[in-house]
Amino acid sequence: MASESQTVLISGCSSGIGLELAVQLAQDPKKRYQVVATMRDLRKKETLEAAAGKALGKTLSVEQLDVCSDESVAQCLSHIQGGQVDVLVNNAGVGLVGPLEGLSIATMQNVFDTNFFGAVRLVKAVLPGMKRRRRGHIVVVSSVMGLQGVIFNDVYAASKFALEGFFESLAIQLRQFNIFISLVEPGPVATEFEGKLLNQSALAEFPGTDPDTLSYFRDLYLPLSGELFRSVGQSPYDVAQVIAKVISSTRPPLRTQTNARYLPLSALKTLSPSGSLYVRTTHRLLFHWPRLLSLGLRCLSCGCLPKRVWPG
Ligand SMILES: NC(=O)c1ccc[n+]([C@@H]2O[C@H](COP(=O)([O-])OP(=O)(O)OC[C@H]3O[C@@H](n4cnc5c(N)ncnc54)[C@H](OP(=O)(O)O)[C@@H]3O)[C@@H](O)[C@H]2O)c1
Repeated sequence: MASESQTVLISGCSSGIGLELAVQLAQDPKKRYQVVATMRDLRKKETLEAAAGKALGKTLSVEQLDVCSDESVAQCLSHIQGGQVDVLVNNAGVGLVGPLEGLSIATMQNVFDTNFFGAVRLVKAVLPGMKRRRRGHIVVVSSVMGLQGVIFNDVYAASKFALEGFFESLAIQLRQFNIFISLVEPGPVATEFEGKLLNQSALAEFPGTDPDTLSYFRDLYLPLSGELFRSVGQSPYDVAQVIAKVISSTRPPLRTQTNARYLPLSALKTLSPSGSLYVRTTHRLLFHWPRLLSLGLRCLSCGCLPKRVWPG
């Protein structure tokens, strides 16, 4: 291990982006990182351990961490030498899709407990050490849904908007302590995330939802969502590469979108600060011109367009 290696703690490494990132950093040819790859259920650690290969036990260790538990966070940090975390990656997250009327408040609160308060809990735990050392980097796996709302993703998008506001605010104060914040905003990523969501929503009945809304969700949203993932979806490997680049930057950016193919959709929001261009266009595409939307997605998936965004 290089003497200058940085300790990187990543939440949610049982699958997807967290697993890929943990492996990529642990296998860094320059051995710049000592990775603490965490997951809430250690019974799921085999896939990560197999992917880590020779890095396991050298530049990668696996620890239990449930971002919804103060006790679990404290236990995990107590296993890190000196309790020192140089880079924190808030990756753990859960999704939620469906008509609002059919979702319970408890289900919505679980999304905020994991996606928002889970990240806040970890930051509160590592921040005093980073401030003392006057050094640190906090990376947050947000989403393009932290920048723009998406139909039937109301609560998930709200949890990511909350992260964006929280960490942008914190970034100003933390500059004073030489601590950087980076919000990474993937578009659709082909991980278990989408599979879990589609399974949940296929089984769910959404009681109390009117027939029109249910039909928009099942007959319009679900098929188009599948098409979006197939056409512009990135691999967790690609997203992890972008995050690894952000982590290695000397002056890490506050925001990085990972998916070049999604940029035309996110541009609809930035082009018109009033928000009406984005809401009107997506409404028309979904409800009036779904075939045009499908065609557009197929054009975006054309192989000549770059897939990844590289932070400068
Ligand atoms: N996939 C996408 O399209 C997409 C797009 C934009 C942003 N993102 C974001 O990317 C991040 C990673 O998601 P992914 O796509 O890699 O999906 P994933 O494969 O489902 O990974 C999510 C990870 O979070 C973990 N997790 C959930 N609740 C937790 C808790 N209370 N404590 C600790 N870990 C917990 C999961 O553990 P279990 O295995 O125990 O459930 C899993 O390891 C999430 O923040 C997600 O919002 C995903």
